[in-house]
This record gives sequence, structure tokens and C-alpha cells, in this order.
Amino acid sequence: MTKPKVLVSRRWPASVEAKLQQLYDVTLNLDDHPFSADEFKYALQHYDAVCPTVCDSLPAEVLNVPNKRCKILGNFGVGYNHIDIAAAKQQGLIVTNTPGVLTESTADIAMTLLLMSARRGAEGDRLVRSGQWTGWCPTQLMSSDVTGATLGLIGFGRIAQAMARKAHHGFDMKILYFKPTPADQAVVEDLQAIRCDSLEELLPQCDYVSLHCPGGSDTRHLINAERLSLMKPSAHLINTARGDVVDSQALIEALQERRIAGAGLDVYENEPNIDPGFLTLDNVSLLPHLGSATIATRTAMGEKVLANLQAYFAGEELPDRVA
Ligand code: DGY
Repeated sequence: MTKPKVLVSRRWPASVEAKLQQLYDVTLNLDDHPFSADEFKYALQHYDAVCPTVCDSLPAEVLNVPNKRCKILGNFGVGYNHIDIAAAKQQGLIVTNTPGVLTESTADIAMTLLLMSARRGAEGDRLVRSGQWTGWCPTQLMSSDVTGATLGLIGFGRIAQAMARKAHHGFDMKILYFKPTPADQAVVEDLQAIRCDSLEELLPQCDYVSLHCPGGSDTRHLINAERLSLMKPSAHLINTARGDVVDSQALIEALQERRIAGAGLDVYENEPNIDPGFLTLDNVSLLPHLGSATIATRTAMGEKVLANLQAYFAGEELPDRVA
């Protein structure tokens, strides 16, 4: 029996690539270059399954290519705002994602950025590396406390709840959240979390605000100049969700004018082309979309894609179908 043809758009941890190769006729992107629209169109026409990831762009113009062989997009990532889901559905393409397995690692990076921003960690690192550090000094790089401060979460899904657990149980932080739909009561009680009815209610109360909503047209520029102006001048904004949730230009201006104290960013509009305005600011900590980048998490993400492909090719129900 001929094996299904599977294309993987970027390199995955070796152990999952090897498992995939045992089961399918797999083409790997050996030099790990980002695929062009034409490469994806070719893949959709010549493979049974295509496995893109969060840095790939699959708009309708690509998905609507004629003479498709592909039936399933096994996305390596939980976010799927880079895929035009309406077009995929219209084209009869199944889409799966990898929920659950990157919750803790992404929440860890959100906490890392919160701590870096609060305690001016990146500035301290730059000072030491520059050779300009002249020794301990009572007023050097003084910063903000984390323990006991108030954290506001925008979105209250798995990753936000994991961050809230670390912040509340580890750092004694008070938790506020904004989520349009009701949250799990047991979680709310465990965290003594307080629901806010609007961003306008949440933002002025927080020392730290962390974003945990999906990207895409519904949340584009949710954090804009007006909402940034509601934050305390001493507050920090953390974004590990998607870059387009924040209006970069408005954030750069707020940071430049010290209308907020700092920001910690793992995601950007137009990745990897970061707005150069961020690069000259001292009060922003910048990471290169590292949320899920632990060996165990990336391996588990690959295993999830594999489980979905196996279910699909066995004619079984898909564990993580989003379209
Ligand atoms: C995802 O899976 O959506 C993350 O952004 C990757 O870290």
C-alpha cells in the first residue's frame, strides 16, 4: 500500500520527524527556509497532508489553488490566525492545531517577560555586557515590585489561567481578568480572581497587564492608544499572544513618553520585521516568539500533529479539529 504523502513546512524536533517518516512518505524542509506562497500552492497540489506552522501565511489566495490533492492541514501550533479558516472550510480542507501542550511553557515566558520588564533585567544585562557597570550602587536600575502587585489578564483561557496560578500562588499577586464568556468557577475560586466587565474597568487597576486572546481581525489593535492611556504610568504590558492585538505605533509612543513604565513582548505585528521603534527603547524587553520553545513542548506539539494525522488517515475522529 502506498503511504500518504506528507509535507512539513519547517524542521521539527528530530524524534517527531523520525516518527512521521516511519508512518508516511514525508518531505522535510531540510534547510528550514520559510515557504513562499508558491511553495505552499505546490504542496497543496502534490501532498495528501501539509503541516504548516505559526510563521506560515495561508490566505485564501493560497488555499484556493486549483487541483488540490491535500485534504488536511496539520498545524504545528495552537494559534491558527495565519490560516484563512473560512477559505479552508470553503475548500473542504480540514485544519487541526495543538492545544494544551504549550500552556505551561508559554505561561512561563509570560512570567519571564513580566519579571524582566518589572525588574529591568534586559537593561541590567546590557549594562554588564557594555563594560559600563561600575559596581553596586544604591540608586542603580531601581525597579517595580512583583510580589503582591495586581495582574490583569485579558483573555482567561488555558495559558492565562496557568500564568495566573504562577503569579498568584508563586508571587502572591492579585488577579483580575476580562473574558466575555463565564470562567470555570473552581479556577476563579482557587485564584481568588476578580472578573472585570470591560477593559476600561480592568486596565486602570493593574500593575501588570498580560494579553492572552487569539489574534486575527476580532482582536486587532484591541490595545490601542486610548486603552494604553487607561493604564497606570507605573504599569507594564506583557504580550505573548499575537502581535496584532497591540497597535505597535501606539505602544512605542506610550513607552517613549513613559505613559506606561514598560513592556515585555514575545510577539509582534509583521513578524519577524519588528518595528524599529522598539529597538531603541530601554523600557521594552524583546523575545523572539519563544513561548512554546522548550524541547519537551515542541516535541509534544509535533506528537499532537502526528496524532491528528493518524486519526485522519485511519478515518477516526480528529482530536484537535478547528475546521
Ligand atoms: C502557537 O502555537 O500558537 C504559539 O504562538 C507558538 O509558540
